[in-house]
Amino acid sequence: MSKNYNIAVIGGDGTGPEVIREGIKVLQAVAPVEGFSLAFTDFDWGGDRYLRTGEVLPPTAAEELKKFDAIYLGAIGHPDVKPGILEKGILLSLRFALDQYINLRPVKLYPGVESPLKDKGAEEIDFVVVRENTEGLYAGSGGFLKRGTPDEVALQSSINTRKGVERCLRYAFRLTQERKRKKLTLCGKTNVLTYAFDLWERAFNELAAEFTDVTTDYAHVDATCMWMVKNPEWFDVIVTDNMFGDIITDLGAMIQGGMGIAAGGNLNPEGVSMFEPIGGSAPKYTGQNVINPLAAICAGQMMLEMLGERSAGERVERAASSLKALSQRY
Ligand code: IPM
Ligand code: MN
Repeated sequence: MSKNYNIAVIGGDGTGPEVIREGIKVLQAVAPVEGFSLAFTDFDWGGDRYLRTGEVLPPTAAEELKKFDAIYLGAIGHPDVKPGILEKGILLSLRFALDQYINLRPVKLYPGVESPLKDKGAEEIDFVVVRENTEGLYAGSGGFLKRGTPDEVALQSSINTRKGVERCLRYAFRLTQERKRKKLTLCGKTNVLTYAFDLWERAFNELAAEFTDVTTDYAHVDATCMWMVKNPEWFDVIVTDNMFGDIITDLGAMIQGGMGIAAGGNLNPEGVSMFEPIGGSAPKYTGQNVINPLAAICAGQMMLEMLGERSAGERVERAASSLKALSQRY
């Protein structure tokens, strides 16, 4: 009997549902060719439901999602909801509740796609960012003192646990081992964040001794931004914390041809993972069917690979990378 996978679908807000719809068409087309099937279950979580019910997520959301093989997510963010409510209440809350401790974001320029980087092509732009996805500044640790007064204090702490840092680094080392160039760069800020990145650097160096076939390197985050533009070919795998990973992957998306192409996976290698185009909900384009669905399609490809359907993933990648639509920037 052929294998069936149960996929939870959260189309979400804005253009999320329309790009996910295209992604599902691709997944449904490749499945029978590769000898498996997919069953999709829709969840209406997002801004519209929140405005209607006052609830961002039902309390059982994470438990329900744990029953699925993977989650396929469109986008979260609604123009009528104050920024932060849905992002924290849905996206971040699911990443945390499902302990999706890796955010994997490939930065790959497909042949024929226009990059804003002059003189850089598919040969030069092909790396992966491993972003820690459950800690750092995103942990939500902080608070106000005397809010709204002239003596106001606002605190926001970056939480870096030995366990959280090490499991992220270990994942990055293993991933690097599987790649041709086997080069792993730690992206940090050891010259200023002398506590957080001291821990990252120590753990990184300890693991380097274990993974002797991996070439290691270090770059400060500001220099990483510079080199992503000037010499992207220096990078093979970059591992970094949550906030830096968020920032450098938007830059990564631009050099690979735009938000319309950039996909990512929120991974719990021991649990349920969630795949998404990283471009956001683009509310002003909703319903116009103008947003490039390739990022969602490539997120679907990453989902197939995580499910163990590598050949199906490669088939989707071959098809996607041969499309003219790749040159559409958003
Ligand atoms: C991303 C997004 C999110 C993040 C927002 C929407 C909370 O920018 O997935 O990169 O900061 O992680
Ligand atoms: Mn982001």
